[in-house]
Amino acid sequence: MSGSTFPGATPDPEAWWRGAAIYQVYLRSFADGNGDGVGDLAGLRTRLPYLSDLGIGAIWLNPWYPSPMADGGYDVADYRDIEPSFGTLAEAEEFIAEAHALGIKTITDIVPNHGSDQQKWFVRALEAGPGSPERERFLFREGRGASGELPPNDWQSIFGGPAWTRVADGQWYLHLFAPEQPDFNWANPEVVEEFHDVLRFWFDRGVDGIRIDSAALLVKEMDSEGGEEAYTDLDGVHDIYRGWRRVAEEYDDRILIGEVWLPDQERFALYLRPDEMHTAFNFDFLACAWDAAALRRSIEETLATHIPLGAPPTWVLSNHDVTRPVTKYGRADTSFDHADRKHGMPSDPVLGERRARAAALLAMALPGGLYVYQGEELGLPEVEDLPDERRQDPIWARSGHTDPGRDGCRVPLPWSGDEPPFGFGAGQPWLPQPPEWKALTAEVQAADPASMFTLYRTGLRLRRELLGDGTLAWLEAGEGVLAFRRESGLICVVNLGAESVSLPEHESVLLASGPLEGDRLPSDTAVWLRQA
Ligand code: GLC
Repeated sequence: MSGSTFPGATPDPEAWWRGAAIYQVYLRSFADGNGDGVGDLAGLRTRLPYLSDLGIGAIWLNPWYPSPMADGGYDVADYRDIEPSFGTLAEAEEFIAEAHALGIKTITDIVPNHGSDQQKWFVRALEAGPGSPERERFLFREGRGASGELPPNDWQSIFGGPAWTRVADGQWYLHLFAPEQPDFNWANPEVVEEFHDVLRFWFDRGVDGIRIDSAALLVKEMDSEGGEEAYTDLDGVHDIYRGWRRVAEEYDDRILIGEVWLPDQERFALYLRPDEMHTAFNFDFLACAWDAAALRRSIEETLATHIPLGAPPTWVLSNHDVTRPVTKYGRADTSFDHADRKHGMPSDPVLGERRARAAALLAMALPGGLYVYQGEELGLPEVEDLPDERRQDPIWARSGHTDPGRDGCRVPLPWSGDEPPFGFGAGQPWLPQPPEWKALTAEVQAADPASMFTLYRTGLRLRRELLGDGTLAWLEAGEGVLAFRRESGLICVVNLGAESVSLPEHESVLLASGPLEGDRLPSDTAVWLRQA
């Protein structure tokens, strides 16, 4: 794959998305405008000045469609409207226009693998019965066993438990996630057409990009007894995205971003061919331990797979599915794995924050796009002691209460004041905020030159001026140290070793993640230097 440019790749180096800093808004936890304890568009719109001040180029919103919220909105009941507790379609259009006026692009989240059991299509499929065209939009099958009492195969749901649920007439339907999220049948041209139409619906309303949920899972080999390999990354999935790319190309400058969790970088890169997606999330980097050799390998592999395709890499430290960086980096094991979230493993908050600050400067300095998940810029920790009865992630129930799931990174943001709800809204937030977050509010941090928020804001400003997409050149550095130069002459040095190291020659220090020791860079600290 590496070495030569992919035929047909003619990237526009100036395209807005190639070096953008994209801020992820998990709407129900961002800001609540109507006092019901759930974030909404009204809240988001009042906080647009905050995002503009932070200096981001685009906002990606998690699903904002009508949803019974069995999986926080990833169970979509209507792809062409807005969840009433979030607002209205008219408000969404106003939001898109207001963001544009501030120079901020909007990216929405489309969930093509599955819908909701409350979606009209599924309700009609249940009514229409076995053998009907309505059932052909989903993956209904007869069961095994004398009376069909066993599921059609042994596939397990990614959230735990069987991937099949039986309906009243005896058939079973497939759901790779929760039972409330029935999988679509992508072999049915009606499904293909429906999603093309949904893409156009949002592009017509001014949306600049689409984040594609669970993008590698759409095509299934139903007769295979195999596990994940029977529904993960099957070749047929690429035709789907070629079709989506053709739709995106009907418009100016609209992009497709894939959620593609694949360990194999070469398979991952196939999604970024010039007639498929524009970019995809770099989960290898996100999952990587705080270790210089491992991070260097991840960065090098990422660049090696992206550059020949003309696709910009992306750098992601967190999102709504994974452990908050300050908690992750404070643990003895600093890697991330969905299969073992290391919930409750002791975490040193001081060490975790120090490393998260250094990691932020590393991620911001790398060539390509950057994702910042809401609250990352405030250094919020994972909330690991939520009361069990308040937990809402379906993983909690479906794992038989063994895996607490993802609620701990979804706690509503602290904006201001000394006690919950910290300016989130007038009502009681849907997940409780820790009282200690009074030290982490946006208000407190904006006034503190040493805060995480100030580090992100300054870093994002310098990044806009001096970094973005392009290439890097590695510099000689000792063991445990990452050092590279960007085209503008900016040098990033990250010390992941136990001892301080001396800085390379430089003209000035542009930004550091923590105090320097004279001309030495302390452990778990990153610095941006300008060279003469
Ligand atoms: C993606 C989303 C996650 C969701 C799942 C099912 O991984 O990021 O939040 O639960 O897909 O839609």
